Amino acid sequence: ALPSAVTIYEVGPRDGLQNESAIVPVDVKVEFIGRLMAAGLPVVETTSFVHPRWVPQLADAAEVIARLRLDGPTPLPVLVPNERGLDRALEAGARHIAIFASATETFALKNLNSTLDDQMTMFEPVVRRARDAGVDVRAYVSMCFGDPWEGAVDVDQVVDVGRRLLDLGASQLSIGDTIGVGTAGHVQTLVRAFEAAGTDAASLAMHFHDTYGQALANAHAALQVGITTFDASAGGLGGCPYAESATGNLATEDLVWMLDGLGIDHGVDLASLVETSVWMSKVLGKEPASAVVRALR
Ligand code: HMG
Ligand code: MG
Repeated sequence: ALPSAVTIYEVGPRDGLQNESAIVPVDVKVEFIGRLMAAGLPVVETTSFVHPRWVPQLADAAEVIARLRLDGPTPLPVLVPNERGLDRALEAGARHIAIFASATETFALKNLNSTLDDQMTMFEPVVRRARDAGVDVRAYVSMCFGDPWEGAVDVDQVVDVGRRLLDLGASQLSIGDTIGVGTAGHVQTLVRAFEAAGTDAASLAMHFHDTYGQALANAHAALQVGITTFDASAGGLGGCPYAESATGNLATEDLVWMLDGLGIDHGVDLASLVETSVWMSKVLGKEPASAVVRALR
């Protein structure tokens, strides 16, 4: 049976905007986050404390979160790669952070200037210090289904990286199909491999990109094997600047439409979400990537 309710983890302000080259003003980012919260999104990832040269769009992270209520009922996580990022995030008052690891050597180098093993050494003090400060830590794993440089990625390799992050003290793993090559059978194989290694589906979230049009099929396959947290981006904004051929995230509206059809609770008001994405697409001067937004606007 499918779950009766799921949590949608909104990544538009971070994963969506990080790929936009024209700098979006702080006011617009704050309004975007506020509108997403008002539309009922239960978690909104807001920005990244990465090196500003690596992601110039999010160089204003401290200014953005200074204008948010970080101890309110809606968790507003921020991305943190290393201790320098953690210092900045704690200084700015973040209460929820997300570290981001790679399942492959090549992407660890391209995205973190690191290796598979060294990324763990980098994350260890981040997780320890965050938890000591009472801050919750989520961990992403990227390139879980395929890598643009290395090709196919072994399921065991993904499980190994994921388990190491949970062992460090992460509370949830987000399994990233960074370049959108995953298919439904592969999703179920990966979830079952985690379970066989002792990691319950309840500690996993799925992070799909719709590059090959498979994101909703993959989300449905994940529901069938007990996944109840899904990352999504309003309007389908997004991509990763350090991953070749990474395009839009699964659009939040597309996910909501499917969940409504299945009678699965999510707490999001579709009409106000669509309105928000239409507004954002005008600000960015581009067509919304979401089919549901285009149909309903
Ligand atoms: P590095 O160049 O190796 O850094 O980059 P370093 O440790 O050698 O330090 C060099 C300088 O940068 C030092 O300054 C540090 O203080 C400074 P200096 O002493 O030379 O004056 N520095 C920082 N400054 C501000 N904030 C920081 C920071 N860290 C060091 N956090 C680093 C290593 C990890 C910093 C870099 O590779 C980086 O910032 N990478 C981020 C890339 C990124 O944001 N990618 C997109 C997000 S991941 C994603 O989208 C995938 C996901 O959505 C899931 C999926 O779809 O798969 C999550
Ligand atoms: Mg992503």
